[in-house]
This record gives sequence, structure tokens and C-alpha cells, in this order.
Amino acid sequence: MNTATAFGELYGRAPEGEWAAPGRVNLIGEHTDYNLGFVLPIALPQAVRAQIRRRDDGLLRLYSAQGGPEVTELRLDDLAPGSVPGWAAYPAGVVWALRAAGHAVGGADVRLESDVPGGAGLSSSAALECATAAAYNDLYGLGLSAPELAQLAQRAENAFVGVPCGIMDQMASMCCRPGAALFLDSRDLTMRQVPVDLAGQGLALLVLDTRVKHDLGDGAYAALRAGCEKAAALLGLSALRSLDPSGLPAALDRLPAELQPLVRHVVTENARVETAVAALDAGELTALGPVLTAGHASLRDDYRVSCPETDLAVEAAVAAGAYGARMTGGGFGGSVIALVDATAADRVTAAVTAAFRAAGYAEPRALTAVPAEGARRLR
Ligand code: GLA
Repeated sequence: MNTATAFGELYGRAPEGEWAAPGRVNLIGEHTDYNLGFVLPIALPQAVRAQIRRRDDGLLRLYSAQGGPEVTELRLDDLAPGSVPGWAAYPAGVVWALRAAGHAVGGADVRLESDVPGGAGLSSSAALECATAAAYNDLYGLGLSAPELAQLAQRAENAFVGVPCGIMDQMASMCCRPGAALFLDSRDLTMRQVPVDLAGQGLALLVLDTRVKHDLGDGAYAALRAGCEKAAALLGLSALRSLDPSGLPAALDRLPAELQPLVRHVVTENARVETAVAALDAGELTALGPVLTAGHASLRDDYRVSCPETDLAVEAAVAAGAYGARMTGGGFGGSVIALVDATAADRVTAAVTAAFRAAGYAEPRALTAVPAEGARRLR
């Protein structure tokens, strides 16, 4: 059944259009966005698709093909932070954020379907937000730019869902371009599309979903963010972004022991993004490998957001010949990326799978990341 027919069966009318917004993997620049630093994500071909028709009776009706059989019906006037549980909070939060920002938007019938693996650190929630935001922007004629929509989506997640995320995932889902990584400065949202011709160089970027998500993640993310903000305040900086590697040793001397590794990670990670961009600009894609692996070590040893499963996936991928590998996303599980020769992709996947089996872990799920397009109208 095509999506318009599925929408018609659900709501008894045709949708006014269909929009898509992708998940992402971040090449490098982890836990830098809320420190107003650099990130370098690519969009995945996997995306949320949203079919939508406006309503004028103040109701928002939401259905997700992945979320169970029921339609969630919400009254726009009742939308309040924390009021909507589960997946529906992401699209509802976007509508709430638009209204809170003064945009005169009404309700809608919404049907969502996604092939972004959930809980894998691939930003399935940002994709839900951005598909909704792009659709509302077009249908209600808001004329907002992609970065403005990304910021509203982030506000939905921060204030409505209650997750204190940075801006990376929403900017990636809104602004990425096919064949390129998005080099984003989180301080002012200036960005540059950096070509990543993996196939042209006989390379592939493997994504290995460890299928674990440690509960610890939710509270720990907020605590790490708070730790970074405290360190910046102690150093008299508006954000850790303002610290460069030459000032790092002196800065560390001024900080309590528990904050030092956080600051070391953020400062060195920002520098790694710049190194990675230089490698891509020079067309030396394999030079990215050691940068990825160094980024993982920093997340494991300093930021401490890796876990046994992601550590093992990185170790096994590199041992099997990957140029480099690292966990991607917030951490505490989720996915690992590995840069490999295209011809070695199956071998590396098999090696990681064998290592997981030997350790008694569930089999990882593998996909290949092809830099894809950001949010767009499909019809
Ligand atoms: C999550 C957040 C992002 C970013 C990453 C870590 O994906 O949503 O804003 O902070 O973690 O880099």
C-alpha cells in the first residue's frame, strides 16, 4: 500500500503532501555542540516520512506505523511540556514550539513512518521532529529557514520532551546534503558542506548498531552538560568552545579533578573536527581513520560515555582492518562507525559479529552510511 492510501484508510481523506527528514551519523565532534563547538555529521538515507493534512478544529492527530495501532489525539490548547508520553511527544513538541514562538499554526492529521533504527543513536527522534517541522513550515506558509526550523525542533526536545540535547541532530536532519558532511559551528550555526566521496575512493562507512542502550544515558547526558557549563563558568568563559588546545594545560590546572577530563575531551574533540575537515578538503579520506579512533579513546577515557559493547566494536573493527572507528552519538550504547575499504566491509562486519558472539552480546545490526539529503518535501 502506498503512503497516501495508508493515510486515507486512517483518516478518511487524502494528505496534502509528504515530507521526509533523515537520521544521522556524526563523523566526529561528539559532545561539542552544547559547548558551542564544531560537529561534522552526515545524513543517512534512512528517514522519517510524514504525510499531513491540516485541520481547523484545534486537534492534532498523530499516528506512527512503528508506534502501535492507535491514533493519538491531542488538543492544541492542552499541549504542555511533559504532557505527552512516548514517540508522540516529538511531533507534538514541534507544534507546541511553533505556537510558543508565536506562529499561528493549527492542528493536523499526521501519519509517520520511519526506517531509522530507533534507540541506535542515529537520531530517530530528531528525524520525527524535523519531518513535522518541515511539513508545518510548508503547509502553514511560515517561511522559516532550515536552521530556524532546527532550532524550533531543538526547543521542542529541550522544553517539551525534556531532553537537554544540543543542536547537532536537528541541524543534521534539516541541513545535510547528499555526498557531503555538514561542518557546523554550533555557536552561530555557520555551516559548510564538505564533500565526502567515499565510493569514489573505494571506501565505505559502516554503521554497527550494538543494540544496547544503557539506562544510565538519560541522566548522565544532563550531568555531563552541567559539568561542562560549570567548568566554563569557573574559567570565566561563556562556553568551553572558547578554549583552544594551547590554553588547555593552564586551564586544567585551574579546575577540580573531576572536571578536567571533560574539558580535555571537548577541547581536543573540537581540534579533531578541524583535522577531519582538513583531511576531507584534501581528499585524503583514509586520514580520517586515526582521527576517529582517537575520538573514541577520548570518549572512552575522558568523557566516559562509551560502554563495553561500543569499545569492543571499535577494537574488533580496527583489528579487522578498519582505518578507524568510534562510537557515534550521545553514547552509553548505540552505534559505532567504522571507515573501511568497501571490499572489506563484509569482513569487518563479520569480525565484529564474531567478537560480539564470543563476548555473549546480541548480534550487532550493520548498515552502510551513504551521505544523504536533509529534510525535504517529497510530494
Ligand atoms: C546527542 C544529542 C546531540 C549531541 C550528541 C553528542 O545525540 O542529541 O545534541 O550532544 O548527543 O555529541
